[in-house]
Amino acid sequence: MDKLNFPKNFLFGSATSAHQVEGGLNNDWTHWEKKAGKIFDGSTSKIAADSWNCWSKDIQLLKNSSQNAYRFSIEWSQIEPQEGEFDIAAIKHYRQMIDELVKNDITPMATLFHFTCPLWIDDAGGVAGKKFAPTFTRFAEKMAAEFGDKIKLWSLLNEPTVYVNAGYFQARWCPGKKNIIAGIRAFLNLISAQRKSYLAMKKADSTIKVGIAMNMTAFRPKNDSFCSRQLTRFFRWITNEFFINRVRNCLDFLGINFYSSYQVQCKKPFLSGKIADGLYQIVIENRHWNLPIYITENGLPDEDDVDRQKFIVDALSQLSRVIGDGTDLRGYFHWSLIDNFEWASGYSMKFGLHDINRHPRKSAEIYRKMILENRHR
Ligand code: BGC
Repeated sequence: MDKLNFPKNFLFGSATSAHQVEGGLNNDWTHWEKKAGKIFDGSTSKIAADSWNCWSKDIQLLKNSSQNAYRFSIEWSQIEPQEGEFDIAAIKHYRQMIDELVKNDITPMATLFHFTCPLWIDDAGGVAGKKFAPTFTRFAEKMAAEFGDKIKLWSLLNEPTVYVNAGYFQARWCPGKKNIIAGIRAFLNLISAQRKSYLAMKKADSTIKVGIAMNMTAFRPKNDSFCSRQLTRFFRWITNEFFINRVRNCLDFLGINFYSSYQVQCKKPFLSGKIADGLYQIVIENRHWNLPIYITENGLPDEDDVDRQKFIVDALSQLSRVIGDGTDLRGYFHWSLIDNFEWASGYSMKFGLHDINRHPRKSAEIYRKMILENRHR
């Protein structure tokens, strides 16, 4: 295979989120997942990958596979378990982990909202409640002040539209509502949280870059009819652009979580099939924002690791093409470093380069090889 095209300092990493790997949490999701029928395999996040205790092993996994970046989330309910009271020990805990990442030349990227809330926010109406945006902003400001010296990249909110859809429209996720008004409130509060936190964080530390990790889907017309093309435009707008349009001025970079692609037509089924180079397309489509781009998540559930190896090679090849076309793409984070608690699917879907006991799958080795062969020297 020819050498791929990656710029100097390109980030080759992987991602996790606190609730999915840490274990031992006490937030809105930990209560929700205990209710009967909420989680496919009846499991909970009680232990997950035990990363709260085993974070240094996670860093070892990153090192073993030659990754130079790690996207994780800082759990609000750990930092501020009671309203207005910041937990010094939890801050120290994350500080240790972050210091260790930086010491090992692994660039940290941190998310502050990855679908979970402290219980006192849940009691006050959750993300749809009035308290959410101002108190989240206070938390974000505190995190920038505490960790801005080491964490320069903040993918502040993770997939706000996916969260509202699953939690407030479809009731598949915590808080389990089917309520359009509450959903719209949650949506608006997330917009407000991104805007306010951006300003507060940059005030606390002007050296940091604050972005977002936005779920994006690639759509392409299945045929050349006017209707298919218009419908494709509509899907792109509602899925990929609507939220970003509202926070564009409060982004230093765009993080894209990419999992799905569809061909679009004007008769049933409206959406079908896949697009072979969907990752390439989604990055190209997002160049018009004029922001540096990171792929903040991309992966697949594949316990036997049959498809993942080719998937990684293919993803990096598409990204190399994007860069060759002059795109300011700065990093790729595979989802996920390790098998984890996959929300309503429990442990039934395995996205990890490593299994939950931290044994590498063959893909971890393939990723390592790809990184070593293609990183810029
Ligand atoms: C989320 C992750 C999730 C992954 C795989 C993304 O929507 O950010 O938390 O595990 O997809 O489903």
